[in-house]
Amino acid sequence: MTVHFIGAGPGAADLLTLRGRDLIAACPVCLYAGSLVPEGVLAHCPPGARIVNTAPMSLDEIVDEIAAAHAQGKDVARLHSGDLSVWSAMGEQLRRLRALGIPFTVTPGVPSFSAAAAALEAELTLPGLAQSVVLTRTPGRASAMPEGETLAAFAATGAVLAVHLSIHLLDKVIAELTPHYGDDCPVAIVWRASWPDQRIVRATLATLDAAVGTEMERTALILVGRTLGDADFDESRLYAADYDRRYRPVGAAPRFPEAS
Ligand SMILES: C[S@@+](CC[C@H](N)C(=O)[O-])C[C@H]1O[C@@H](n2cnc3c(N)ncnc32)[C@H](O)[C@@H]1O
Repeated sequence: MTVHFIGAGPGAADLLTLRGRDLIAACPVCLYAGSLVPEGVLAHCPPGARIVNTAPMSLDEIVDEIAAAHAQGKDVARLHSGDLSVWSAMGEQLRRLRALGIPFTVTPGVPSFSAAAAALEAELTLPGLAQSVVLTRTPGRASAMPEGETLAAFAATGAVLAVHLSIHLLDKVIAELTPHYGDDCPVAIVWRASWPDQRIVRATLATLDAAVGTEMERTALILVGRTLGDADFDESRLYAADYDRRYRPVGAAPRFPEAS
């Protein structure tokens, strides 16, 4: 018996890995984390599967449910939205399963920041503008932020910020970021990226507050950074005609002559 932790993706049912789909189809028990896991993903469960929404359950109750499946020798598909590596609460479940000696696997999913970038048709790292993306959040009731992990500290680097779990604190996000990025810095909010009712607002730090409607609560990502605008950026050297590289040796003395 194995518990398969599976990243269920950002919303669209077909933004699920083939491995994730096949594991869901093979498990007689499926535990899923609330409304962010789309019904289309749950549709891969086999007929007669026990399908449990864990949103109203405590960690103890979730582990009890897994332990009951373990006692019956039934594999479990454990679904969390997006990818499992960020804000999934997988870590605490794995710690319990290790202590209980219950085997598990981890299958990644499409994170919401990539789905939001795709919706914006944006490459977040553009040469000369930004080469780092910070996935972060503001403090919440359930999770304080470690000292030093402030929006201002990340903003001081000039990296692109993908601010999760914070749409309800938009004023605070704008106030903390504006001194670092400037009023004219491009910002985008993607609400329910990849869902059928996805919405996008593009603005600057100065105009964002007025551009966002009150319906954009909860499942929204705030992306801030110079690469979100139409600004000039350098082309990547990788594809420059005179760039000598292993797969395209150039010049009289290429760096990787064996490839030619
Ligand atoms: C508990 S976190 C889960 C993050 C998830 N594990 C991931 O890989 O993106 C929930 C937050 O992720 C963001 N989020 C999740 N799905 C989203 C989507 N489809 N569109 C926009 N933001 C999303 C929102 O900021 C939301 O408040």
